[in-house]
Amino acid sequence: MEFYEVIRNRRAVRKYKPDRVPEDLVYRILDAANWAPSGMNTQSWEFVVVSGAKLKSMGESLARIYEPMAAKMEADKREAYLNNVRNFFGAPLVIIALAPVQKKDVMRKMHLKGVCAAFENLLLAACAEGLGSCWMTGPLQEEAFLRELLSIGEDKEIVAVTPIGYPEYIPKAPPRLDPELKQKVTWFR
Ligand SMILES: Cc1cc2nc3c(=O)[nH]c(=O)nc-3n(C[C@H](O)[C@H](O)[C@H](O)COP(=O)(O)O)c2cc1C
Repeated sequence: MEFYEVIRNRRAVRKYKPDRVPEDLVYRILDAANWAPSGMNTQSWEFVVVSGAKLKSMGESLARIYEPMAAKMEADKREAYLNNVRNFFGAPLVIIALAPVQKKDVMRKMHLKGVCAAFENLLLAACAEGLGSCWMTGPLQEEAFLRELLSIGEDKEIVAVTPIGYPEYIPKAPPRLDPELKQKVTWFR
């Protein structure tokens, strides 16, 4: 896929096929993440790849988090919705991005931005490889649970989570709020 096509085609995918993603492909998208820019070239991102029993536990956690939202749905849709959430959208694996915990706010922000740059690289590389992803911070509502489950120490900050897998369904692109970039860009000539 051409570069700008990848940028436009990447969608938040919330339904996946169960097909396994080959490990070398997972490493290819992680390698794209590893090539991101970072403040002071710290390259401080770390990734946790989760599948199997621990992914099942993460799905159960996600279902607890989404329960209040599901409760507002019509009964016939609620169960299917929660089943999809409970299986982490059916994705065969999830990747979590970590940043080092920092005392100074300015350093914390610097590291977080580098990790986010890496995470976006990961999502774009996944799209280029025909894989789906969904940048998620919702799972952090059970951060303590995630830390315990995945043995993430207090010296690491959980930044973002994404399911990775072959999309079962790709949603329509949400329109741009300012497609002509009239309000979003100030240019002094
Ligand atoms: C910082 C951030 C946090 C997000 N958290 C969630 C989340 O917890 N759950 C979810 O389903 N989607 C989440 N999303 C995905 C957005 O809902 C999605 O990117 C947005 O609706 C635009 O759709 P698109 O990614 O297909 O362009 C998040 C995206 C970002 C960038």
